[in-house]
Amino acid sequence: MTVGIIGAGNKGGAFAMALGKAGIDAVIANSRGPESLTTLVSNLGSTIRAGSLQEVAAHAIVLVAVPWSKIPGALAGLNFDGRIVIDANNSIEAPLYRPADLGGRTSTEIFHTLVPGARVVKAFNHLRPEQLSGDPQSEGGRRVLFYSGDDTRAKAEVAAIIDRIGFFGIDLGSLSIGGQLVQFPGGPLPALNLVKFN
Ligand SMILES: NC(=O)c1ccc[n+]([C@@H]2O[C@H](COP(=O)([O-])OP(=O)(O)OC[C@H]3O[C@@H](n4cnc5c(N)ncnc54)[C@H](OP(=O)(O)O)[C@@H]3O)[C@@H](O)[C@H]2O)c1
Repeated sequence: MTVGIIGAGNKGGAFAMALGKAGIDAVIANSRGPESLTTLVSNLGSTIRAGSLQEVAAHAIVLVAVPWSKIPGALAGLNFDGRIVIDANNSIEAPLYRPADLGGRTSTEIFHTLVPGARVVKAFNHLRPEQLSGDPQSEGGRRVLFYSGDDTRAKAEVAAIIDRIGFFGIDLGSLSIGGQLVQFPGGPLPALNLVKFN
């Protein structure tokens, strides 16, 4: 399995680092091309390499971590039909941190319209990047990551990644319910750094 990652900033880079530590193959892309990612990937472990957006988007599982206003441009012209796309995004961005006007929808509902035919799983958006790339073990337990979606098999694949990188995954149910719970800003779960003890 090779995971595609669109967005190589704080969040995409942290996710890639977590995959690299677990020995999971991944290809990561940004807007400026693979050459601009040479330094980043050299610090992410031997299983992570840089690629073009088209190459990254062709994988069976693709995580998107791009500033909210730039997501439509990043995904334009890419086809995700039938494949798993992980929405790790929040609808607020630097430098103003003004919440986007979602017209009463969740950000992941809007995200879903940008990847028609994809099996969307909302995940990896609720923790800060350094927590995602840091040690998932804490005080004898495992840090919690949430995931939600409408496709059971897609969720199972994302849950397996969460488990392999050492976190404890919690299924929040459908995209509409889970998307509300991890919505940032607005939902109750973002930024909660929870630990599951056995
Ligand atoms: N940072 C956090 O604390 C945090 C926490 C939770 C969730 N998130 C979410 O994660 C997402 C990314 O945030 P971030 O902090 O990682 O942002 P970031 O550090 O600014 O990185 C953004 C990345 O997106 C890429 N990008 C921008 N436009 C693109 C395009 N048209 N095509 C391809 N790639 C493009 C950039 O590539 P270039 O540099 O080449 O333009 C860059 O690699 C956001 O939705 C954010 O809400 C962030």
